[in-house]
Amino acid sequence: MNYHNKLLGAALAAVTALASFGPSALQAAEKLTLYCSPQIEWCQLMVEEFKKATGIDVAMTRKSSGETFAQIKAESRNPKGDVWWGGTGDPHLQAAEEGLTEKYMSPMLPKLHDWAQRQGSDSGNRTVGIYAGALGFGYNKDLLAKNNLPTPKCWKDLLNPAFKGHVQMANPNSSGTAYTTLATIVQIFGEDEGFEFMKGLHKNINQYTKSGSAPIKAAARGETTIGIVFQHDIVTQVVKGFPIEVVSPCEGTGYEIGSMSIIKGARNADSAKKFYDFALDPKIQTMAKQARAYQVPSNASANPPPEAPDLKDIKLIDYDFKKYGSSAERRRLLAKWDKEVKSLPR
Ligand code: F6P
Repeated sequence: MNYHNKLLGAALAAVTALASFGPSALQAAEKLTLYCSPQIEWCQLMVEEFKKATGIDVAMTRKSSGETFAQIKAESRNPKGDVWWGGTGDPHLQAAEEGLTEKYMSPMLPKLHDWAQRQGSDSGNRTVGIYAGALGFGYNKDLLAKNNLPTPKCWKDLLNPAFKGHVQMANPNSSGTAYTTLATIVQIFGEDEGFEFMKGLHKNINQYTKSGSAPIKAAARGETTIGIVFQHDIVTQVVKGFPIEVVSPCEGTGYEIGSMSIIKGARNADSAKKFYDFALDPKIQTMAKQARAYQVPSNASANPPPEAPDLKDIKLIDYDFKKYGSSAERRRLLAKWDKEVKSLPR
């Protein structure tokens, strides 16, 4: 065998060896940059499972919904992310309206609940629903008893001066949970009374956190008595064994359609579509409970975790996603909250 034949033989052997590792080795060059807005445990599970299923490497960062929206907008001339998975639907709708996300119609679309498909049709198919969950608040039973506080059952109960320094919520600019709270209060009480409510609540707030679920984690640790969060995030703390109680406010409450979008100008567009279809698969959605994520999945064939709050048992308002997910309304409400509520002394 001459030198050239030897070289050819070695190259062939290398190709055969690579092929024998299967598709994942051949696809190792594919990658995905994922902006993730639900709980970090669920983000990590999705990254691992996607890598297992496709061999595609994922670089993931977890940031709250409003923060991720702001980042995608800031990067729009030179996009760095491929997929924005999860987080409340309102800023995804705003991103769609502002042309920050791509149109994509997954073959999985017809398998989704109506509410998840509607998120697509409302946005020119630039986003889609991946889960749903109702807003509420949770309290630490031990702290309530220790401080001799009454049991809160309604939104209005949270205005009781006895709760001064006992209530925590996130900042609606960074957090989708807190923006859902602001929009819910405005829809229940009307804008004028709703803002009076937010000002009254402000007097009882001990801290505005960046992330939406932080207040109920703080309640579990005994650092605040009450946290205004999504009910599924309260259930996570209950399942972990903390002395936390879930409240579905008596006046009714808003909800989120957690959403997913492909970022306009995604550098890894093929991987982005693969992830999108993967995230709508019923088997993958059913895995959420492994990460103690108790939202209601959007694929009608996925099994909701038994611990998930049943939306049929909750007095839900007819949340106007079109209005409160519109760019003008979200910007207006946030600016008004900053000016008229956040700036007040406590
Ligand atoms: O913790 C999970 C979750 O509540 C999701 O259901 C929701 O979409 C997201 O967090 C909102 O997070 P944030 O309020 O930090 O934007």
